[in-house]
Amino acid sequence: MSDTVEFDNAVTEINEGTAQEVHSIADFDTATDFELKHTPNVEVIEGADGQIIKVSIGLKGISHPQTEEHYIEWIRVFDGGEPVGSAEFGPADEPVASFEVQRSSSQIAVQALCNLHGIWEARV
Ligand SMILES: [Fe+2]
Repeated sequence: MSDTVEFDNAVTEINEGTAQEVHSIADFDTATDFELKHTPNVEVIEGADGQIIKVSIGLKGISHPQTEEHYIEWIRVFDGGEPVGSAEFGPADEPVASFEVQRSSSQIAVQALCNLHGIWEARV
């Protein structure tokens, strides 16, 4: 009996760990199409009073699908680890967004969640 309970708990822990794992491309020269299509494409535009962070999903012309079965659920922007913007999408929405940020750190991180393949991150 207790063995079964322990096994169930272990599976739950593994599933939670997988859901929260953040993927990113380690080497752009050897990145796979799978990695490229999930990674946020981030453009930073300098404004008079801050920066505009323009985000779409997919690099090098490889776009992520947006269908009922497989789609980007959200994009979130972090400034030095602090959340400063987010946008949510349904299967019928194009997963693009712009965020106005008063940058306070040296690092902006942009994350996107694919409903099948988890969280993907790019830093600028
Ligand atoms: Fe995906």
